[in-house]
Amino acid sequence: MIGDSVHALRSAPERDLTATPEAAGEEPRARPIPRVNIQAFCEDQETASVIQKASEDRRLSKAHVTVQMGGVEAAVAFYHNTSTPNLIVIESLLDRIEMISDFERLAEVCDPGTKVVAIGHVNDVLLYRELLHQGVNEYIVAPLNVAQTIESISSVYNDPEAASVGQVIAFIGAKGGSGSSTVCHNTAFAIAGTLESDVVIADLDLPFGTAGLDFNQDPLQGIADALASPERLDEILLDRLLSRCSDHLSLFAAPTALDRPYDVDVTACETVLDVVRANVPWVAVDVPHTWAAWAKEVVLKSDHVVITATPDLASLRNTKNLLDQLKVARPNDRPPLLVLNQVGLPKRPEISAKAFAKAVELDPKLIIDFDAQLFGIAANNGQMIGEVSDKSKPADAFRALADLLTDRSEQRAKRSSLLGPLLDRLRLMKARA
Ligand SMILES: Nc1ncnc2c1ncn2[C@@H]1O[C@H](COP(=O)(O)OP(=O)(O)O)[C@@H](O)[C@H]1O
Ligand SMILES: [Mg+2]
Repeated sequence: MIGDSVHALRSAPERDLTATPEAAGEEPRARPIPRVNIQAFCEDQETASVIQKASEDRRLSKAHVTVQMGGVEAAVAFYHNTSTPNLIVIESLLDRIEMISDFERLAEVCDPGTKVVAIGHVNDVLLYRELLHQGVNEYIVAPLNVAQTIESISSVYNDPEAASVGQVIAFIGAKGGSGSSTVCHNTAFAIAGTLESDVVIADLDLPFGTAGLDFNQDPLQGIADALASPERLDEILLDRLLSRCSDHLSLFAAPTALDRPYDVDVTACETVLDVVRANVPWVAVDVPHTWAAWAKEVVLKSDHVVITATPDLASLRNTKNLLDQLKVARPNDRPPLLVLNQVGLPKRPEISAKAFAKAVELDPKLIIDFDAQLFGIAANNGQMIGEVSDKSKPADAFRALADLLTDRSEQRAKRSSLLGPLLDRLRLMKARA
C-alpha cells in the first residue's frame, strides 16, 4: 500500500481536476511544506521544469526536491534497493488501466509512510478515485502550472480541514517614520473588528516598538520571551505571553527596555511565527525598518507584504528596491500592497501618487492623507484611528486594506476556526485577572 493514509476522498465528481488558481488570477493559497525529501520522476520535460520552478518557491524552501526523468519505470528501478523518500511525485503518460497497474508496481517498492502525488495526462474522475483508493495522496492532470503544483504538494501535508492555519502579513516601511507601524496596528484592528477574526500583532521592533503604546498596554512579558526560548513556545505559553487589546485582537508586545542589546535569531523568529500562525488566523508582523537577516527572512517568507511609503525620493528608491527583491524571491506570489502615506503634508514638495506608481511600477492600493490632528490624537491617547473617528477617511482606508488582505467573503466562513479555543481561554484568563 502506498502511503500511510489515504487522502480523504473529496467529492471527486464535483472536483475539476484541471482547475488552477493561476487561471483564476489568484496566488496559490498553499501553506509552507515541512522539511521533507521529495523525489520527482517525470515523463515530460515540461512537467519537470514546472516542478523545478515550484521547488524554488518560498513554500518549498525547507523541502529537498530532486527531479529526474523516467516516470514509474525509473522510480520502480530506483527504489528497488533504496528506501523511498517522504514524498514521490510521479508522472505517467498512460491511460487509466495501464496507469493503475503501473502504480501497483510502484506500491510494491514504496516504504510505508511515503506519500505519492501522481501526475497524469487524462482528466478522469474514475482514475482519480482509483488512485486515491490505491493510497496515492493527490492526482494532478498535466499540463501543470507552478501554483497548482505547490498547492497539490502542500495539500498532502496540510489537512484541508485545518485550512484556517494563520496567514502572516508583514508590514514594512520604505523608510523609518513612514507610518508602517501605524498602518500595521490599524489594519490589524480593522481585521479583528470587521472580520471578527482573531488577529495577533507581533511587534518585532524589540527596542522601540509602539504597539504597546498604541493599544495602551504595558505587558511585562511578550515576544522577547518567546524569541529567547522558541523551543518552549507552545499554545499554552503563547496564551500567557499575549496581551489582549480587544475582542479579537491580541498583542505580542516588544519589551522596549534598553538594558540589553537585541539580536534576533533567524530560526527563533521563524519558529515563533510558526507557532503563532498555527494558533491564530491572522498574524500582523510589525517589522522595523531594517534589513537584518531575520527581518529580510520574515518579509520574504510571509503570506502577504504591505509596504508603507511616503511620497519622497528616498521612499521611492527603497520601495523600488524592496519590490525588486520581492519579485525575485517570490515569483509566484501576488505583489506587495503599497500604501502611500502622509500625503499632502503642508508646504512639503511631494512626488505625486501617479509619478510614484509609474516609477515603482505598482499602483498604491491606498493613499492616506497627512492628518496631524487625527493621527496625533490617536498616537498620544493609545487609540486606533477608528476609535478616535470611525467615519474618517483613514479609518475607511484601513478597513479597505483589511478587506484586501483577508479576501473577506472567503474568510467569513472560517471565522469560528480551531483558534477559538486558544482565544477563548485567553478571554477567560483576562476575565479572571
Ligand atoms: N497619515 C498620517 N498623518 C499624520 N501622521 C501620521 C500619519 N501616519 C503616521 N503618522 C505618524 O507618524 C509617526 C510615525 O509613524 P510610525 O507608524 O511609527 O512609522 P514607522 O513604523 O514607519 O516608523 C507617528 O507619530 C504616527 O502617528
Ligand atoms: Mg515602526
